[in-house]
Amino acid sequence: MTYYNILGHHTVVINTQKVASELLDRRGAKYQDRPRFVLFEELGWGLTLTFLPFGNRFKLHRSSLQTNFTKSSVVNYQPIQEDEVRKAVARLLDKPDNSEFIMRRFATAVVLRIGFGVNIESDDDPYIRISADAGAATGEGGDPGASLVDHMPILRHVPSFLNFSVPLRHARRMRWAIKRLHDVPFAAVMKEFHAGKANPSFAHTLLTKYHDNEKKGVENKLEIRDIQGMSAAVFIAGSNTTLATLRVALFNLINNLHVLEKARNELDRVVGHDRLPSLADRPKLKYLEYIVEETTRWRPLSPVGIPHKSIEDDIYEGMYIPKGTLVYYNTYAFSKDASVYQDPDKFEPERFIPVKEGGRGEPYLSGPFGFGRRICVGRHLAHASVVSMLATIISTMDISAPLGKDGKPTKQVLECSTGLSSHPADFEMTFAPRSEKAVALLREAAQGSE
Ligand code: HEM
Repeated sequence: MTYYNILGHHTVVINTQKVASELLDRRGAKYQDRPRFVLFEELGWGLTLTFLPFGNRFKLHRSSLQTNFTKSSVVNYQPIQEDEVRKAVARLLDKPDNSEFIMRRFATAVVLRIGFGVNIESDDDPYIRISADAGAATGEGGDPGASLVDHMPILRHVPSFLNFSVPLRHARRMRWAIKRLHDVPFAAVMKEFHAGKANPSFAHTLLTKYHDNEKKGVENKLEIRDIQGMSAAVFIAGSNTTLATLRVALFNLINNLHVLEKARNELDRVVGHDRLPSLADRPKLKYLEYIVEETTRWRPLSPVGIPHKSIEDDIYEGMYIPKGTLVYYNTYAFSKDASVYQDPDKFEPERFIPVKEGGRGEPYLSGPFGFGRRICVGRHLAHASVVSMLATIISTMDISAPLGKDGKPTKQVLECSTGLSSHPADFEMTFAPRSEKAVALLREAAQGSE
C-alpha cells in the first residue's frame, strides 16, 4: 500500500489483491464513498451511480441497478444478447474488414435495448455515434479524480480565456456529448412510454413504477431525473467496456492459436455443427470461461480502478487510514503480481485450472470489476455478452491475424489508452466463415430476428 498526500488529500494506492479484499470487500462499508469528480461533473455527469457520493441517493440508485442486474435477473436479458450476437456475427460475413465497428454496434445495441428498449436500425444509427462520443469524452478525461480541478474545485469557476488546464478545457468542449447521451435515448423512451408503446426495458420498468406510485398517491423516492441518470449509467458503463473486453480477447485469440484451437474443440464437443452456441451451454464451456477471466486479468480495463473514499477512520496492520482518504486499487499491479500469477504477461487461460484437475489453480483476478459496495453492477451482464460473442465467433468463423508475405500470421501489437478505462487501439484481423453450414445458421438466425 502506498500513501500520498496530494494537495492536502490523503490518498492511498493498494497494490495487492490481499489488501484490496481486506479493505474494500471485507471492510467495504467503510470504503463505499466516492471522492468528488469535479472534472466529470464539469463534463456533465451528474446523477450517475459511478460518480455518486455515499448517501441516500447512492443507496437508491445502487439498489435499483443491482436488483435489475443480479446473476439471476440477467438471465432475462439473454435473448437480447443472443439475438444481437447472431446479427453481429452475420454482419461479419458480409463485412469482415469492419469488425471493430460491428463489435461497437453490438455492444451499444445490447445496453441500449436493455436500458431503454431502443433498437439500433442501421450502421448510420445516431446512437452508435452518441455512445462513441460519450465514451471518448469520458475516457479522455484522464484518470478519475486525478486532475488538478478534482483537488482544487475552485478552479472550475475559472473563465474560459484564463483556463490553461487541458482536462478542464476538454471537459467544457465535450459537455455536449454527455448531454446527448442523457437526453436522446431518454426522450425516445419517454415519448413511447406516454404513447403506451414502449418496449420493456430498465427505464420502462422504473417509469412504470413511478407512474403507478403517482396514481396510488405513494411517494416516489426516485425523481424522473434519477431514472434518466440510472439508464444513462447502463448505456455508458456497459458499451465501451464490453467492446474493449471483446477486442482484447480477440487480440489474444489470434496471437495464441493454440488457445483458439482448444476453445474451438470445446465448442465443437459441446455444441456440435448443427446449431449456434447459446448461453445455456455456458456451464459446459469451462475453457471459454477461463479465456474470459484471462482476458480481464491480462489487461484490466480500469488499471487503477475508480477510487473509493473512506467514511470512517480505520487501522490496517498498524497503519492509520483517516476518514476521507481516497483509495485507488492498482488492478494492473495485481494482475502482474508474479507471486500470484506465473509468467503474468503470458495469455494463459490454463492458469486457472484447479489443482485437483492437474492445473496450477491460480485465482481469478479480483479488481477488473472493482470491489465491495461499489463493485460493478453490470459484471454479470458484461460477462454473458462476452462469452456469447466469443462462443459464436469461435464456433462459426476462422479468425486470424492477416497473413504476411511468408504466409504466416503477422504479429499484431495491442496499444491501450489510459484514463477512466483503457481501450485497445485498432489492430488487424481477418474473419472467414468456417463452413457453409455455419453461414446458413448465421443467416437464418439474423433473418429470424429482423
Ligand atoms: C467488461 C465490462 C465492464 C467492466 C470491465 C466494468 C468495470 C467496472 C469498474 C472497474 C467499476 C468500478 C467499481 C468500483 O469502484 O469498485 C464499475 C462500476 C460500474 N459499472 Fe461496470 N464494467 C463493465 C460493464 C458494465 C455494464 C454492462 C454495466 C451496465 C449495467 C456497468 C455498470 C456499472 C455501474 C453503474 C458502476 C458504478 C457502481 C458504483 O459506483 O456503485 N458496467 N464497472
